[in-house]
Amino acid sequence: MAQGALVGFENVDGIGVITIDNPPVNALSPGVPEGIVEHLERGNANPAVKAMVLIGAGRSFIAGADIRQFGTNRPRPVPGKRTHEVLDASRKPVVAAIHGYALGGGLEVALASHYRIAVPSAKVGLPEVLIGILPGSGGTQRLPRLVGPKAAMEIIVSGRQVPAEEAHRLGIIDELVPEGADLRAAAIAMARRVADIRPLPRIRDRDEKLAQSKSDPGIFDAMRKSIARRARNQRAPYHCIAAVEAACTMPFDDGIRRERELFDELENSDEARALRYAFFAEREVAKLPGIPRETPLRPTDTAAIVGAGTMGGGIAMSFAEFGVPVKILDTTQDALDRGLARIRGNYETSCRRGSLTEAEMNRRLGLIEPVKSYDDIARCDVVIEAVFERIPVKEEVFKKLDEVMKAGALLFTNTSGIDIDIMANATKRPQDVAGTHFFAPANVMKLFEVVKGAKSAPDTLATAMALGRKIGKISAMAGNCDGFVANRSRGPFGTEMNLMVEEGALPERIDKVMVDFGYPIGPFATADLSGLDIGYDSRQRRAAQDPNFRKQPIADALVEMGRLGQKTGAGWFRYEKGDRTPHPDPEVVRVIQEKAKELGIEQHSFSDEEILHRLLFASVNEACKILEEGKAYRASDIDVMWLNGFNFPRYRGGLMYWADTVGGPAEVYRQISAWHQRYGARWTPAPLLRRLAETGIPFREAKPGRAM
Ligand code: 3HC
Repeated sequence: MAQGALVGFENVDGIGVITIDNPPVNALSPGVPEGIVEHLERGNANPAVKAMVLIGAGRSFIAGADIRQFGTNRPRPVPGKRTHEVLDASRKPVVAAIHGYALGGGLEVALASHYRIAVPSAKVGLPEVLIGILPGSGGTQRLPRLVGPKAAMEIIVSGRQVPAEEAHRLGIIDELVPEGADLRAAAIAMARRVADIRPLPRIRDRDEKLAQSKSDPGIFDAMRKSIARRARNQRAPYHCIAAVEAACTMPFDDGIRRERELFDELENSDEARALRYAFFAEREVAKLPGIPRETPLRPTDTAAIVGAGTMGGGIAMSFAEFGVPVKILDTTQDALDRGLARIRGNYETSCRRGSLTEAEMNRRLGLIEPVKSYDDIARCDVVIEAVFERIPVKEEVFKKLDEVMKAGALLFTNTSGIDIDIMANATKRPQDVAGTHFFAPANVMKLFEVVKGAKSAPDTLATAMALGRKIGKISAMAGNCDGFVANRSRGPFGTEMNLMVEEGALPERIDKVMVDFGYPIGPFATADLSGLDIGYDSRQRRAAQDPNFRKQPIADALVEMGRLGQKTGAGWFRYEKGDRTPHPDPEVVRVIQEKAKELGIEQHSFSDEEILHRLLFASVNEACKILEEGKAYRASDIDVMWLNGFNFPRYRGGLMYWADTVGGPAEVYRQISAWHQRYGARWTPAPLLRRLAETGIPFREAKPGRAM
C-alpha cells in the first residue's frame, strides 16, 4: 500500500484486498469513499481478481462518515458513484471484514457488500440518530430487509452499538472468526469460497423480512408512540422511523431517494448542529492543557471505597460493572450490611426489570468485597473516600489513608464541596490526592468531575481522567473552588427556582417549563427525588458561616413540616403510595403564600420564557465567572458537565451552547443587566460576559481568564 494512501489495494492470489487506512478510526473523510470506489471498479475490471475483501487498517473497520464534514459545503458524490451504488453494481463478490467498529456509513458499506465476516469483539450499529441525522447511505433500506423492520427500527432509533455476536444471531454478520484469529486471512478464505457463487447475494434484492410490516402495519405508529417522551422536541428519531417505513412501502430505489430527502432535511437542523457540537465537546474534554496525552498512567486495577453509604455503594457498583474488583470499607458491620443490602437491592430491581441477568448480578457482587479494616485496603491502587461531608471526618480518613496505603496509591475524594487541599494537606503525599466527584445516582450518572488540588501531580490527574473513562463515565476537569464547576454553575439555577416560587411561580409551572424545554423531569420533582433534607443541611451550615447567605424559607419550611420529598410521600409535590408521579399540592401553595406575605414579597405572573431564562441565564453568568477564574479549561467542558451531570437536553448542546442559540452574550448581557437593576447584586454581570457581549465572541469560544 502506497505510503500515506487512504485506501490501498493488493491482489492476493486473485482476491483483491482493499484496505482503508485513515487513523484513528477510519472515518469516511474526503478521499476515503473515492478510494474505495476506485479500487472496487479496478477490481471489477481486472480479470485477475475473482472477489474482493474490504478491511480496515488499525483498530477499526470504518466508524462512519466524517462528522466534521456535516454542515459544511462539502462536495456531494456523483450519482452512481456512491460506495453503496458501486457495490450494488459490482459483478464480483465483496466480503466486508469487520473488527473494532462498523458504525453509520461504515456499516452501510458492509451492508452493501455481499458477505460480512467479523471478530466477536467488533461492534456494529447505525448511530446517526445520536448526532441528529439518519443513516443516509442506504442503511434504513437495507437493514430492515436483513433483520425485519421492527428490529431495524430498534437499532436505528436507539443508535446503539450491537455486539458482533448479537449481530451474528440477527443475521447482520454472516460468519464470526475466533478472537485473535487472522481476520484478513479468514476474509480472504471466505472470498475464495464464494468467488463463483451467482447470483450475488444483495440485500437490496431481498424482501421476505419486509412482510412483517404487512401482517403488522401498526409497528410504525407503535414505535412513534413508544419514543414520544424521550424524543420530545426532536425530529431525527421520527425521520428514522419514516425512512424504515419507506423501505416497507416503496421499491428499493425510491426508498433510497426518500432516505436521502429525509437526511437532507436533518443535516443542518438545530438539533443536528447541537448534537455534533456535543459529540466533539465530549472528546475535547479529555484533553488536559499542559498534561501530554502520553503521560504514563498509574495502575488502577484494584480499588477501594471508604464509606458504604448511598454514594459509596453507587461508586462501588460503577467499578464492578466494568470488572474492577473493589473493596468497600466501613467502620461497623451494621453499616457494611446495610450498604451491601442496598447494592443487592439495586441489582435485584434491575434484574426484575430485565436490564440485568442474574449471572451478571452475581458476577458484579462477586467483585465487591466488604471490609472493616484500613489494612485490608492498603494494597489497592486507588481509594475513593465517600464518607460524611464534614471536614474533621474527612481529615481523619485521609490521615489514616496516608498511614496505610502503599506508595503511589491514588487517594481520591468524592466530596461535592469541601476544599480538596484540606484533604491533601492531611497527608504527606498531596501530589497523589485529587477530587473524583460522582453525581447521584453514582452508578447511573455519567459525569465524573476530576478536581485538581494545588499539589495534584500531572499523572494523578491524567490517571483520574482515565479511571473515569474506564468505568464508563465522561471525565471532566475542574479547578478547586466552592462547588467546583458543575455544582457551582448549577447553584444560581437552584437559587432562582426558589426565588421565583416566592414571587408567585408555582413549582408545577416551573417544572412544566423545564420539561417542555427538554429535561426528563422538572427541577422541583428532581429535588423531591433526591430528598429535600440534603439541601437543608448544607443551607443551615452555609447560613451559619455566611451572614449574607440567601436562605430558602419555603424549602426550609417544607423540611421542617416533615415533607422530605418522595421518600415521605410529600415534598414540593404530593405522591400517592407506590407511585412516583408528582401531584400539585394546595398545602404547598398555602406555605408559599404565607411565607411570601411574611417576607413582604409581591406576587407577579411569569412568562414561560422568563422562567427558562431566569434559571439558565443565572447559571450562564456564574459559568462566565468560573471561566474567568480559570476553574474550567473550556466553555464546552461546562456543557459536557451539564449534559452528563444534570440531564440538560442533549439536542440543545449544553448550557453555553444553548445560550449562544438564544441571542448569545449580547442578549444574555442585556437581560442580566436589566435583572441587575431590578433584583440587585446577585445579578451583577460577570466581567467576562460583558467582554464577550462587547466583542461578539460566542460563549462556546470563550477562553479562560487564567491557567487552572
Ligand atoms: N468523524 C470524525 N471524527 C471522528 C469520528 C467520525 N465519525 N469518529 C471518531 N472521530 C474522532 C474523534 O473526534 C476523536 O478525535 P480526537 O482524537 O481528535 O479527539 C478520534 O476520532 C477518536 O475518537 P474517540 O475518542 O471517540 O475514540 P473511541 O475509541 O473512544 O470511540 C468510536 C470510537 C466508538 C468510533 C467513537 O469515536 C464514535 O462513536 N464515533 C462516531 C461514530 C458515528 O457516529 N458514526 C456515524 C457517523 S454519521 C454517518 O456515518 C452518516 C452516514 O449514514 C451517511
